[in-house]
Formats: sequence, structure tokens, C-alpha cells
Amino acid sequence: METIEVLIKEEEVAKRIKDIGDQITREYEGSEVHLICILKGGVFFLCELAKHIKLPVTIDFMTVSSYGNETTSSGIVKVKQDLTQSIENKQVIIVEDIIDTGITLSSLMPMLKERKPASLKLCALLDKPERRRKEVKIDYLGFQIPDRFVVGYGLDYEQKYRNLPYIGVVVPEANENH
Ligand code: IMP
Ligand code: MG
Repeated sequence: METIEVLIKEEEVAKRIKDIGDQITREYEGSEVHLICILKGGVFFLCELAKHIKLPVTIDFMTVSSYGNETTSSGIVKVKQDLTQSIENKQVIIVEDIIDTGITLSSLMPMLKERKPASLKLCALLDKPERRRKEVKIDYLGFQIPDRFVVGYGLDYEQKYRNLPYIGVVVPEANENH
């Protein structure tokens, strides 16, 4: 089986999320904040972040799938499970695990903007800028990371490891024939 190497420690992740929560609390003072979690990867980040926002917070969830791949940059995002509430006139922040190629969010942001939120911002725990194919403006970012496949804090490898309380790198099993 593969092993997992720690890339960003639990305490570092926790500290950074608290700082982002503090920043959002300051910047949205006097208003309510509507957090939209992109499932499944964003769920651990959303829960931790929401606890650090000292304002009235509402949450909603969305599942999307991107048909983008390595060879086409024209990724179209498909909504598999839509929001349960209108976002019209709300101060909306999208909460996502990682911005990789940027295909998912570059397609999703304009789509949500059409629903007329009062404001729409993007908060991502991780950013892999080397892999970007579509430009995405990240308003609140946890960490920039190198081009490695990461797991933990919501991110999966074959649906596993989402529950790790740190960000880790997947190290494939050494080939036993060598
Ligand atoms: P995009 O390439 O920016 O559209 O990202 C699409 C999705 O790919 C992210 O929301 C993640 O769910 C997934 N993803 C990208 N990089 C990683 C990774 O290193 N580990 C786990 N999931 C990833
Ligand atoms: Mg995701």
C-alpha cells in the first residue's frame, strides 16, 4: 500500500484556518456570511473555518464534476447536486479544498454570479499554481503547494484519507521487483 508523508502539519493547518476566519470576520463586519461548500473535498475546511468566523454564518453545499482533462482546456462543470437555498443578495464565499487546473472554479464562479449574490468570493485551502490552465482569482488562500498529489483535510486518494487532520503527500509503494 502507498504511504503518506506529512507536507503541512496539523497545527499549521489549524493556525492558518483560524487566521483566514479572523480576516473574514474583520472584512465582513456588520453583515452575514453565506458559505458554499464544494463537496466532498471542502467539507472539513468549511467546518473548521466556519467556527472561526465570529459573524452570523449560513452554509450550503454543492456537488460538481468537471469534464476537463489534461488535453482539453475547455472544462465544463456539471452540477450534480445543487444548492438548497437562493444566494440572491447574500455575501457568498465559496469554500473549496484545492485549486489545481482551475477548470472547476473558473466555470463555477460565473455560473453562480448569474444568481445575483451581493458579493461572491473564493476561499481555497490549497493552491497548486504550476498546474493552472484557467485563471482563477483566489480571495482567501491557506497555502500554495508544489505540484504534488496531496491528501488529508478533505482531499482524497481513491476516496480515502479525507479524515487525516494534516495535509500529506501520497508516496506510491516501492516496486517489489526491484
Ligand atoms: P481543478 O483542476 O482546479 O478543477 O480541481 C478539481 C478538483 O480536483 C479539486 O477540487 C480536487 O477535488 C481535485 N484535486 C486536484 N488536485 C488534487 C490533489 O492533489 N489531491 C486530491 N484532489 C485533488
Ligand atoms: Mg474538490
